[in-house]
Amino acid sequence: MTALQEQDETVYDLIEKEAKRQKTTLNLIASENISSRAVREATSSVLSHKYSEGYPGKRYYQGNEFIDQVEQLAIDRAKQLFGAEHANVQPISGSPANFSIFLALLEPGDAFLGMDLACGGHLTHGSPVNFSGKLYKPHHYGVDKNGFIDMDEVKQLAHQVKPKLIISGHSAYAREIDFEAFSTIAQEVGALHLADISHISGLVAAGLHKSPFPHTDVVMTTTHKTLRGPRGAIILCKQEHAQAIDKAIFPGSQGGPHNNLIAAKAVAFQEAMSPAFKKYAHQVLQNAKVLAQTLMDHGIPVVTGGTDNHLLLVDLQGLLGPGKGAQTAKLLETAGIICNANSVPYDPAPPYKPSGLRLGTPMLTSQGFTEQDIQTVGVLIASVIKDPKVAPQVRKSVLDLCARIIQ
Ligand SMILES: Cc1ncc(COP(=O)(O)O)c(C=O)c1O
Repeated sequence: MTALQEQDETVYDLIEKEAKRQKTTLNLIASENISSRAVREATSSVLSHKYSEGYPGKRYYQGNEFIDQVEQLAIDRAKQLFGAEHANVQPISGSPANFSIFLALLEPGDAFLGMDLACGGHLTHGSPVNFSGKLYKPHHYGVDKNGFIDMDEVKQLAHQVKPKLIISGHSAYAREIDFEAFSTIAQEVGALHLADISHISGLVAAGLHKSPFPHTDVVMTTTHKTLRGPRGAIILCKQEHAQAIDKAIFPGSQGGPHNNLIAAKAVAFQEAMSPAFKKYAHQVLQNAKVLAQTLMDHGIPVVTGGTDNHLLLVDLQGLLGPGKGAQTAKLLETAGIICNANSVPYDPAPPYKPSGLRLGTPMLTSQGFTEQDIQTVGVLIASVIKDPKVAPQVRKSVLDLCARIIQ
């Protein structure tokens, strides 16, 4: 019996049920992944007991001899992994990290340019319901009718609205991002460039997606998506922005660092430098390409006709009519296939009832799925989309597949 099981059976049971769910369903949420046992050991370590407001060597509490070494290690590894001049490893997650970057680089009311949420941007890139849209003045670029970012549109908008900050990097965009072109436009209009690589940082770390370095002023990534670390985020930047970024995290927007998670980030960064991680990231890409092709081969349209990264967007409008994303995601869940409804470019339906699905391969790849298995997954998804009645039968196939592959 574990201590948790003995002391609090209710919580223990819920965790066990969630563990079973993760092992008996196909998880295609593009932002989810499975971290290593080593990362999880660091996450649940005694480091969470310690308060350490400040930074290594400059703390407001005593007793930080080892915490300083842990944070410095995470900083050094983050810089090495991405080739960055400065790293702040304290952000507790991606949204607060973006909040701190705005705090560091902009004044309230300043104009900035980011991707429209409906075209694949993130809430923190200027949604009216988010701090970024409430406290600052967002302008948005989108994608062309084929679903690709049009750099001419970005350039024209930047010259028109003269933003103080341009954001590249997105939550639901399946094609390679030209960070250098974004930086050139930013320089032309005197703006700073923030690359939010939360989704693709594992691919960047493995050298399988263009890097935002050395062009970009500030880079933010979550650590729990393709990077396969603990929940959290980091901010990387040029030395000239280091002081402003550090101050915006502490004391600007956060208090005591989550030292257990900083240790887990350090472990994940070391993992991400290994040949095994590169192999993993390559498999993520291969799997995403096979999934897109399989769906298209079975008559399911994929936005932009494929993917360059770990995710893809399915457009259900032609098959089911507009606004059927959420309904289809729920149907797939009954078959044991977990994904999220997503807007598609120029979606006539509202964001809470969108017309597409977002599918990603990071988690299945961590669980051992390779091209052939992913092809099977694609066929199962296509069959449920085309005929809801097959969902119970597909559930059985999903259970067989999970039992065969997932440890
Ligand atoms: C591009 C991008 N930025 C920021 C975030 C926010 O991260 P978190 O959910 O950790 O706050 C996300 C998460 O989905 C994201 O996709």
